[in-house]
Amino acid sequence: MSFKLENMRQWLVAAVMLLTPNLVLAFNAPADVPTWCGKPYMSTNQALDPGGQFQFPTPSKDPLLYLTVQPRYTIFLESDEAGSFIVDASISYTFGEPLQNVNYQSPNHPGVSLDFKISNDENRVLLVSNSIPVNSTGNLFSFPLSAFTPRLAPYPITIRGTLNQQTFTSTTTLYILPSRTYGSAVKIDNLHGGLYVQNPHNNYEGWYAVFPVGYYADGGYVTPPNTSFTNLDTYAAQGFNTINIVPDGGLPDQSYPVSSLQTYWDHLDALNLFNLYDMRFAFQNSTRISTQVALWKDRPTLLSWYTADEPDGYVSTLFR
Ligand SMILES: *[C@@H]1O[C@H](CO)[C@@H](O)[C@H](O)[C@H]1NC(C)=O
Ligand SMILES: *[C@@H]1O[C@H](CO)[C@@H](O)[C@H](O)[C@H]1NC(C)=O
Ligand SMILES: *[C@@H]1O[C@H](CO)[C@@H](O)[C@H](O)[C@H]1NC(C)=O
Repeated sequence: MSFKLENMRQWLVAAVMLLTPNLVLAFNAPADVPTWCGKPYMSTNQALDPGGQFQFPTPSKDPLLYLTVQPRYTIFLESDEAGSFIVDASISYTFGEPLQNVNYQSPNHPGVSLDFKISNDENRVLLVSNSIPVNSTGNLFSFPLSAFTPRLAPYPITIRGTLNQQTFTSTTTLYILPSRTYGSAVKIDNLHGGLYVQNPHNNYEGWYAVFPVGYYADGGYVTPPNTSFTNLDTYAAQGFNTINIVPDGGLPDQSYPVSSLQTYWDHLDALNLFNLYDMRFAFQNSTRISTQVALWKDRPTLLSWYTADEPDGYVSTLFR
């Protein structure tokens, strides 16, 4: 069990600010009371306890050592120079294992170090052997990508630490993907946050940072049925580098008209204007998700998949 902060992914969801009232029966609200995130929001309705509050775990009395390993980036490409891991060995009172053989109460405890090894669980190949100070975080260690065959499935990785005869282990998964020659590759920096892209704009060589600045845009306006680039060009000319085109909802299944979006996406590619492709009306239907992913996954300006739109607000059923 781990509660890692997936900052960037959560940002994409948190950035959604289109507040649309709904009438879903949720939590403890009576059926005729409109709610958002399970809470009544009309001044004419009284407040109620929606239930479902997060339960904080009881902190441990003694310090725990919380050893973790993560890939520095969400993906590596075969063409990258090297891979790297982030190793944390925090002292926590919530996560980790009790320290058995070390007294670690003082914040200024002189450097106790933890020896560790990181290996590929599939073939037991050792990738990193090193040590870090206890209660340090963000330690970076590189490993050669030649130790892996590029593939779409992730590799299982384990870190094993030892401190005064006590062992600590933790696992992660690592993606080493084949080199790109079409479409886009986008990775998240697990250390500092932020997105990096490889696409035709840098001739598929290395990565460049993209700090997404853009808006939700009504598809009926920026991608009108009569094919006009005027509004999209005006948008790009303001310096925005990303867009979320909201399906106009006029179609029975509220998706994009495919051939029209192809025309507009060709234009996004020409502008290197990144799309947060929107599946807000399709995310609960795996057939529709598969169809849409197959259609758009190889677009050079695909930045991310925008799945649910404020599912907590609508209290959408996410998993069935
Ligand atoms: C561990 O590091 C954190 C962050 O630097 C610090 O606030 C805390 O006092 C340290 N804890 C111990 C037991 O050294
Ligand atoms: C497309 O339609 C919109 C509104 O219906 C109109 O303002 C615009 O001039 C039209 N563009 C073209 C290229 O016909
Ligand atoms: C899912 O989408 C497909 C394709 O549009 C449709 O045929 C099917 O009825 C949908 N399923 C549900 C449960 O809505």
